[in-house]
Amino acid sequence: MEPEHRDQPHLPGPTVYPIGFAAGVATLLVGLVVSPTVIAPIGGAIAMPAPATAPAVPADVGEAAMPPPAPGERFARSRFLEGATLGLGGVIGGVVTVPVLGMALGPAFGKQGKHRVDLGSIDNFPQGDWEIAHFFLHPDEGEVTRRTAYIRYNGLLSGKPSFTIISNRCAHLGCPVQPNGPSFPDQTKNFGTGGGQEVTLIKMLPAGGFGCPCHGGQYDTEGNRTAGPPVRSLDRYEYAIDNGHLILGKTYSVAHVDGTGSTAVIHRYGLAGPGQHIDGWEQIFYPLQPPH
Ligand code: FES
Repeated sequence: MEPEHRDQPHLPGPTVYPIGFAAGVATLLVGLVVSPTVIAPIGGAIAMPAPATAPAVPADVGEAAMPPPAPGERFARSRFLEGATLGLGGVIGGVVTVPVLGMALGPAFGKQGKHRVDLGSIDNFPQGDWEIAHFFLHPDEGEVTRRTAYIRYNGLLSGKPSFTIISNRCAHLGCPVQPNGPSFPDQTKNFGTGGGQEVTLIKMLPAGGFGCPCHGGQYDTEGNRTAGPPVRSLDRYEYAIDNGHLILGKTYSVAHVDGTGSTAVIHRYGLAGPGQHIDGWEQIFYPLQPPH
């Protein structure tokens, strides 16, 4: 039997302050939205702690809040309540946070590397010429997915068409790099390839490479960095030939390229963010990156 303490007053005495505090905080928060000068101060006043009416009682004075376990009792009631409170709190926390985290982070992991862009017949790419290609990564998502790549047809390699397809995203901070030579708008081709995809090809001469207008980064015609602050080569696109059409796949990052054209040796890595080292000792500073 637990001892009864009906003849002894609670120390400290019961109070409605927690309810008043909660109501005050709620009023304060609502007031910050609807009336920061009138309702919010009222909420703050309600939430203010009431002046102490009795001296605080030290924690080690008076009777224990919970009686010690009776002989033979396996689990103290306090431990059961503690475990139940923590468990219930964990379940409620999970129910509240998991859906929010799923909605916040899920889209970043969806459709990664799944795009497949039809750039039309490979006959649109004369051997040795460069084309500026504008296209949509996801036509149904509109302008925000418009991309630009620089494409050169290198001829056949072991009987298969070989292309150099360079992304225009600068490897420094992501500005759009430009060809260092002229383009020829009068030799522009516009056409659709289905599914809402609209492709524009503009003939151009990179004249030694590509340059970035933001901080002066320079690249050669294989996308290798030659000057300025970029930390690596320009990214490239995977590609395939399907029914005579050039199909772009996902982008990947490149440390550097040895050689040129169809026989170039590409030192490729997974897609990295602008400014990120992907080889050399500096890469240890970029161990984990969010998905792109
Ligand atoms: S963003 Fe291209 S050099 Fe800085």
